[in-house]
Amino acid sequence: MKILLTGGAGYIGSHAAIALLDGGHKVTVIDNLSTGNKKLIPPSANFVNCNINDVTTISQILQKEKFDALMHFAGYIEVEESVSNPKKYFDNNTKNSKILFDTCIKNNLKNIIFSSTAAAYGNPANSEPIKESTDLKPINPYGESKIQSEIYLKENSQCNFIILRYFNVAGADPKMRSGLISKKATHLIKIASEVAVGKRKDITIFGNDYPTPDGTAIRDYIHVSDLADVHVKAVEYLVSKQQSNIINCGYGKGFSVKDVLKIVNQVNDKPISIKNGDRRAGDPSMLVSNVSKLHSLFDWQPKYNNLSFIVKTSIDWEKKLLNY
Ligand SMILES: NC(=O)c1ccc[n+]([C@@H]2O[C@H](COP(=O)([O-])OP(=O)(O)OC[C@H]3O[C@@H](n4cnc5c(N)ncnc54)[C@H](O)[C@@H]3O)[C@@H](O)[C@H]2O)c1
Repeated sequence: MKILLTGGAGYIGSHAAIALLDGGHKVTVIDNLSTGNKKLIPPSANFVNCNINDVTTISQILQKEKFDALMHFAGYIEVEESVSNPKKYFDNNTKNSKILFDTCIKNNLKNIIFSSTAAAYGNPANSEPIKESTDLKPINPYGESKIQSEIYLKENSQCNFIILRYFNVAGADPKMRSGLISKKATHLIKIASEVAVGKRKDITIFGNDYPTPDGTAIRDYIHVSDLADVHVKAVEYLVSKQQSNIINCGYGKGFSVKDVLKIVNQVNDKPISIKNGDRRAGDPSMLVSNVSKLHSLFDWQPKYNNLSFIVKTSIDWEKKLLNY
């Protein structure tokens, strides 16, 4: 298949590009490098440096080449920044996404895979694993900006879509072809890995008083290469079946912050320095996915469903970044 992939210079988009290319598909990456890094784009992908709202350039690409599907990863992802500057998030994640979807549909590219997020669910009232049918109640502009794009797809009868709602994405390509570069990253495993390689002095646990067994927040961590494989399955499904759907992406198992840090200390040569801090505003106590739909719809089995392996690839990538 031929895939048009936005955000391929970013963390998850670059891993999806690798998975597609490894699977024998062709990939054209669109990225404006606003938060991405050109080095993450696989050398065998075509690359066009432009904004997703550049109707002229993207129409030209679509008229020149016939793609089977769009995979749309490009966007801004910092929750705290979205609170201080919501307009930036609605402009890029919602407005620009709509322009991109319209450009594709107008040029007859009607199969769309969209990166959404567990932030769409907000702070669910009960501690059950979250189903796709759970009410969407985002508690920050980032989550809302992604839901607005979801709604646009759901209300647009001219396209087929698969919306993938990611839980906590972590780790790096086991062959070290890509990983997370962002300097502003707030991801727990990324920060712990930076401490492990000496880039940071310590890591803070935000909140010890959540209603969880050890008092720290629980999340569902999925290895980025497994998530990338889900995209390959999703696009194969969408193109062959032409059926729209919304699917949670996680492993369906929760780990607390303390669980994660314990594993970091097992994987790392020496223990990392850990501080205790207050809760951060808006952090839910527990976000774990119900993955029944993911497993029933796609013929997909995770390869890296092992937190030690996730942490190891993350630390190895951080070591690689020291000389990047
Ligand atoms: N990282 C996570 O844990 C996570 C969790 C849930 C959902 N998501 C979603 O996954 C997607 C990818 O996230 P990521 O972590 O890879 O982020 P990232 O910041 O690493 O990558 C985003 C990429 O999009 C590009 N980009 C942004 N705006 C653009 C525009 N207007 N035109 C062209 N390119 C643009 C950036 O340069 C960057 O390369 C996002 O849509 C995000 O909402 C991420």
